[in-house]
Amino acid sequence: MSTGPHRIVFANEKGGTGKSTTAVHVAIALACQGARVAAIDLDARQRTMHRYFENRAETMRRRAISLPTATFEVYSGDSIEELDAMTARLSESHDFIVFDTPGRDDPLARHVATRADTLVTPLNDSFVDFDLIGQVDAETFKVRRLSFYAELIWEARKKRAMATIKDSRREMDWVVVRNRTGFTEARNQKRIDTALTELSKRVGFRVASGLSERVIYRELFPSGLTLLDKGHLGELGTSHLVARQELRTLVGGLNLPPVVSGPNPELHLDAPSSTKTALESAA
Ligand SMILES: Nc1ncnc2c1ncn2[C@@H]1O[C@H](COP(=O)(O)OP(=O)(O)O)[C@@H](O)[C@H]1O
Ligand SMILES: [Mg+2]
Repeated sequence: MSTGPHRIVFANEKGGTGKSTTAVHVAIALACQGARVAAIDLDARQRTMHRYFENRAETMRRRAISLPTATFEVYSGDSIEELDAMTARLSESHDFIVFDTPGRDDPLARHVATRADTLVTPLNDSFVDFDLIGQVDAETFKVRRLSFYAELIWEARKKRAMATIKDSRREMDWVVVRNRTGFTEARNQKRIDTALTELSKRVGFRVASGLSERVIYRELFPSGLTLLDKGHLGELGTSHLVARQELRTLVGGLNLPPVVSGPNPELHLDAPSSTKTALESAA
């Protein structure tokens, strides 16, 4: 098995599909588990992920609190060598590197996507987003052909499978994550489900559940907080508890390597309740 951090790349050649939102939440969830996380934003224009982490740092300063967070950087150049150097530097002291990419075909986004250990493609529940992976027949909604992007990833995975043997790299896991579920009507959602299942068999991705449509995911941006920041959010309603669980399910569904050690073992997500009780009674 390869040593070095696990690289998680959020990519989809389309804007507004939830890449940055999902990336931030996954990065913070891993940090909450005690993992050392670095977040590289390749969307130098929008910098959504970077801004989220800046806001988080600012909240820590303003409230004089400490929160699990990531080392965050933006790469705004256009040199693959420079980006690789930044990645190598961060690799020395981190367990996970999270890349957020711009929603367009971009050489750097391609570069990191084809080298991902886990490639996450968020998709809103809409055939407009689905089109980025495959095209469906207008009458039957059967998948007609793969998109250019799906072909690209398919090729990358083939090359990667060879490298897996040659350089003992990990195999790439491609996960399509549904975002903003519950937003569209049930019939449309079912059609998308069917088309995704069909396509996943042909292209070799997995479908994992993501975040549902919730105002809270947008509202927390200015403070840089997430639903995992217990004790810093004020009063939470039941829907927020459901959302927190949804976040844990998302991270669990990515099948990432386990976080071995960390400064905050009591923050481990999904720790069995018996463990929690043991920790609490030890405290
Ligand atoms: N699960 C969600 N619920 C509500 N709003 C969301 C959700 N995911 C994303 N958004 C909103 O949708 C917009 C696009 O999301 P973003 O993560 O920036 O997408 P991308 O990075 O792919 O362009 C943002 O305004 C974001 O706040
Ligand atoms: Mg973005």
